[in-house]
Parts: sequence; C-alpha cells; structure tokens
Amino acid sequence: MDNKKIIFSGVQPSGNIHLGNYLGAIKNWIKLQDEYQCLFCVVDYHAITVKQDPKELKKKIIEIAKIYLASGIDPKKSVIFQQSQISEHTELTWMLNCVSARMSDLNKMTQYKDKAGDNENVSVGLFDYPVLMASDILLYQTDLVPVGEDQKQHIELTRVLAKRFNNEYGKVFKIPEVVIKKEGARIMGLDDASKKMSKSASSEFNYIALLDDSDRAKKKIMKAVTDSEGVVKYDVKNKPEVSNLLTVYSLLSGYSVKDLEDKYKGSGYGDFKKDLAELVAQFLISFQEKYNNIKDEDVEKILEKGAKELKSVANTTLNNAKEKIGLN
Ligand code: TYM
Repeated sequence: MDNKKIIFSGVQPSGNIHLGNYLGAIKNWIKLQDEYQCLFCVVDYHAITVKQDPKELKKKIIEIAKIYLASGIDPKKSVIFQQSQISEHTELTWMLNCVSARMSDLNKMTQYKDKAGDNENVSVGLFDYPVLMASDILLYQTDLVPVGEDQKQHIELTRVLAKRFNNEYGKVFKIPEVVIKKEGARIMGLDDASKKMSKSASSEFNYIALLDDSDRAKKKIMKAVTDSEGVVKYDVKNKPEVSNLLTVYSLLSGYSVKDLEDKYKGSGYGDFKKDLAELVAQFLISFQEKYNNIKDEDVEKILEKGAKELKSVANTTLNNAKEKIGLN
C-alpha cells in the first residue's frame, strides 16, 4: 500500500443489496478511489451473526464483490477482499472484547436493540458485531470510513475502543473518522418511510434490489406509498414518502431536488412516479448488464489477490497490539 490516506468500508453478504446500500454507501466510494487507498471488504463474518444457508452465503460473497465491480470499484486502484480470509479480524476482535470493549458500550448500540428486540435467543456474535467492525477498521490504520447514517454509532464506538486501547497500552491504532454524505445517508422504505430501506425487510415492496428485474422494480415504485396531497415537494418532516422518492430520483438522475420540484409543479404524483420508475428501470438494466459480464472466476482471483495484499498489513497491527498487551 502506498502513502495515501486509507479508506475502509464494507457490505454484508446477506439479504438483497438495495438502492439504500448503493446510494448511501457504494456509489460514494467510486469517486474516492483516485485520492485514497481504498479497501472494500465483503464482511462475511458479520453476515453469520444471523443464520445463513451455507450455499447461499457462498453465492452472496461473490455477488457482493461483483456488485462492487459493477458499481465502478476498480480492482487496479482499490483492494477488494473477503473478511474471513484474514484471520486477524477475529483475533483482534477477541483482544478488543477483553481489553477495550465493555458490556455497557455494547448495550447502547441501537442497531443491536432493533435487530434483537426482546428475543434472548439471538447469537452472542450479533451483540459483539460492532467490535468486529472496529477490528475491521483498526487493523488497517484507517483514516476515513464512508458509510450510511445507520453505521455512525458503530464508528463512534470504534473511536472509543481505539482511544481506550492506545491510552492504556500505548499507541497502536489510528483514530478513524466517519464520512456520511448528507444526501442518501438514510434511504427510507418504499412501503413505510418511517423505517430505513432494509435488506431484511419482511416485504419486498420495502426496497429496490440492485438485482431486481426492471419490470418488478417499476411496479415497486408505482406502488410506493405517498400522501394524498399530490404536491411534489421536499419536506422530510411532513412529506417523508415523497421526500424519499425525490432523494432517490435526484441521486440517480443528477438533477437537484429543486429542479425536480419545478419539473413536477402542479402535475400530481402520476408522471413523477412513472418517470422515476423508468429511471430506476434504466439504471438497473445498465447496472445488471455490467454485473452479468463479470465472471465468477475473475472475482475469486480478485478476492484472493486482495487477501494476499492485506494479510501482512493486518498482521503487523495485530502483532503490535499483542506485544503491547504482553502476548508476543
Ligand atoms: P450493511 O451491509 O448493512 O450496509 C452496507 C452499507 O449500506 C449502508 N446502508 C444504507 N445507506 C442509506 N440508506 C439505507 N437505507 C441503508 N441501508 C444500509 C450502510 O450504512 C453501509 O454503509 N456493519 C456494516 C458493514 C461493515 C462495515 C465495517 C462498514 C462491517 N465492517 C467496517 C464500514 C466499516 C453493515 O452491516 O452494513
């Protein structure tokens, strides 16, 4: 790796990767590749915090890497790799679990509370998930972590764990900064704009998956919940559904929200939704064309190369941390 600042981010190979993942995270990574050394991980150890079908998981790991490539991540500039191929991620997690993370820190994590609810039968891994995430980031001396809004609390925890370790044992970790782009940071569900668009939503009308058939996707946009006012206006508080559709429209088309408001002034939701449905369909067709042209064997080679390249970087940080706590 050269002397550029380090970017780290990742997506879990579980559920259906959707427009929220794309607009809130992956799309923003593309522009960063020239200025920074970017590391994009397929975080498969995170995926197994909930039950996965082994065959499906294998397929999903390749799928995420293909989605990175089809989105414009260039393996000549950025490193794409699979988390479980570098054992240092789990080793550092154990160390941080013991010497830095506290039950009280993890008890505050809202994503865990949302996912677990009152169910006591969830895995210990689901509770510990943010510490694994901290290890991902800290192993590579990461400067910046570009994510959607829902991951902010986890990056804040990463900073706390890193500072606590450094203060107690001496400096090992760089303290990373979170990067959240305002537009698209939280794309909401198409069926319920009070909740984020989610891979694990119970209804497929919640999301547009990047691999959705384009006609299906059009149907989902046409069925998206709006209000009865018939005014295309951005107002998150009073018109969350229409505002969410405007955000998607603006990010996919490059038009500003203001331009779109002007374009649909006085025309109700019919044309607005029809045009957005067509835009989404065209986006998916072009995305999937690129996706389908990528061969599994090529993806496997890219992942292998990525792991080889990063293993020694991860190992250096891990050994440094081991040394400090008296394990080497
Ligand atoms: P994951 O796989 O749930 O989501 C991947 C990325 O998509 C963003 N995202 C959204 N953005 C806008 N609107 C939405 N509705 C929406 N839903 C998801 C997420 O914020 C994320 O950036 N724990 C992480 C993966 C991870 C990671 C890391 C990220 C593991 N280790 C280290 C950064 C650094 C996760 O489950 O993301």
